[in-house]
Amino acid sequence: MSLFGTHDEDTLQVWKGDTRNQEDLDPSMFEGVTHVICCTGTTAFPSRRWDGENTPQRVDWEGVRNLVATLPPTLERFVLVSSVGVTKSTELPWSIMNLFGVLKYKKKGEDFLCYSGVPFTIIRAGRLTDGPYTSYDLNTLLKATAGKRRAVLIGQGDKLVGEVSRLVVAEACIQAMDLECTKGQIYEINSVEGEGPGSDPEKWRELFRAAYMQ
Ligand SMILES: NC(=O)c1ccc[n+]([C@@H]2O[C@H](COP(=O)([O-])OP(=O)(O)OC[C@H]3O[C@@H](n4cnc5c(N)ncnc54)[C@H](OP(=O)(O)O)[C@@H]3O)[C@@H](O)[C@H]2O)c1
Repeated sequence: MSLFGTHDEDTLQVWKGDTRNQEDLDPSMFEGVTHVICCTGTTAFPSRRWDGENTPQRVDWEGVRNLVATLPPTLERFVLVSSVGVTKSTELPWSIMNLFGVLKYKKKGEDFLCYSGVPFTIIRAGRLTDGPYTSYDLNTLLKATAGKRRAVLIGQGDKLVGEVSRLVVAEACIQAMDLECTKGQIYEINSVEGEGPGSDPEKWRELFRAAYMQ
């Protein structure tokens, strides 16, 4: 919650809930809500983040299922942050990342969403760089940044493998929410060297459209 800093409670309300517990997802919280971005996750390998059974199975599968099942009829778009490699979890090197099931369970969450009838967009991120350094991985240890990699590569079919800035993933989710062409689509996203789209909606539209054409 500290991520939001001090804020005006008329324009930003913060609700706290554990997606593993259906009772934490009080439907009144979603009244009139039109857009949802889900970026919950836990560590791929056992860590303190797993305390109390906060495992990939519970968060990436059951948590996503609970959240999708609670969405109101007013919902226009649900954007889910997933991961590259979810369709290849039994192949090397993905099988290593998937030793404790994170890719398998992220895919189960994706599949539930795809068949739920909820208007969705899935953004599969590569390895995350940039802050906030909240995860327990090498990126956090090294405080890795995207540096000159401000350009964005968007693909489909789970073929991309690289890394992506958290800022870019956040921007992609926001931009995708309002684009009709991203409805019902699944994308992978990477940051690469060069000038990027920033927050220009036209440039994002073109990136998403180009991914579809490939
Ligand atoms: N890290 C990577 O390289 C990588 C690569 C590909 C995809 N992804 C995906 O990208 C997204 C963001 O990753 P990240 O590394 O930035 O993760 P992160 O910093 O660990 O953030 C995960 C968020 O999920 C929340 N969360 C965990 N369990 C929850 C639960 N049971 N109920 C409600 N919220 C819960 C955490 O809340 P608290 O802070 O309160 O614990 C935290 O805000 C995740 O979906 C992740 O799987 C990450």
